[in-house]
Amino acid sequence: MYAQLLAESADLAVPDVKRFMLGAVLHDLGKLDIPERILGKPGRLTDEEYEIVKSHTTIGWDRLRRMGVDDPMILNVVRHHHERIDGTGYPDGLAGSNIPLEARWFGVIDAFDAMTSLRPYRDEVGSSAARRALQELQDKRGIWYPAEAVDALTELFEAGRLESILEHLNDPEAQTSPVSPMGPEILALVREALQRSNDDHTDIEDLERILQEAETLS
Ligand SMILES: [Fe+2]
Repeated sequence: MYAQLLAESADLAVPDVKRFMLGAVLHDLGKLDIPERILGKPGRLTDEEYEIVKSHTTIGWDRLRRMGVDDPMILNVVRHHHERIDGTGYPDGLAGSNIPLEARWFGVIDAFDAMTSLRPYRDEVGSSAARRALQELQDKRGIWYPAEAVDALTELFEAGRLESILEHLNDPEAQTSPVSPMGPEILALVREALQRSNDDHTDIEDLERILQEAETLS
């Protein structure tokens, strides 16, 4: 949902908004291969565990390529959503405009989503969490996150367009995050699609179906 709003405010053409959203839905696909004991570990990760978590970017990218996905926008979001403007991100340490535009923009959404979604250890939700998250994004504006994407998200918030999404996140009954739809239902869907494709060929229509089903669930 954030992805759609932001892509629209970036004046992407409609087919590009759709492709961007597919990238958004699939961005953490590689986490399917990361053991739950690491992903769900409550305390601090060891260096070795952190390296394993970081590999979700290249694992997801690799899986999609083996499935026959060759759409650069989708692949770039999946591989590069943790790169940072100053080059301190992963997996490739790309900096500035070397980070594909769609991945730079999605990185901001992903960070905002992580900071505002309900987590077992965080009870601050809704617009106060959003305000604090936006402040954190502003602090790293132009350092980790592209200035124009931080500004666009801030404008959406000021205009009240993030309210309904934040309210949704405030509802403990609806904890599936809109841009990280990696809840159990979505995981099952993605897993099913991967199995069915048998690493042969999955075309964009298949992925779009996954997206549509993901949207009805989130
Ligand atoms: Fe990620």
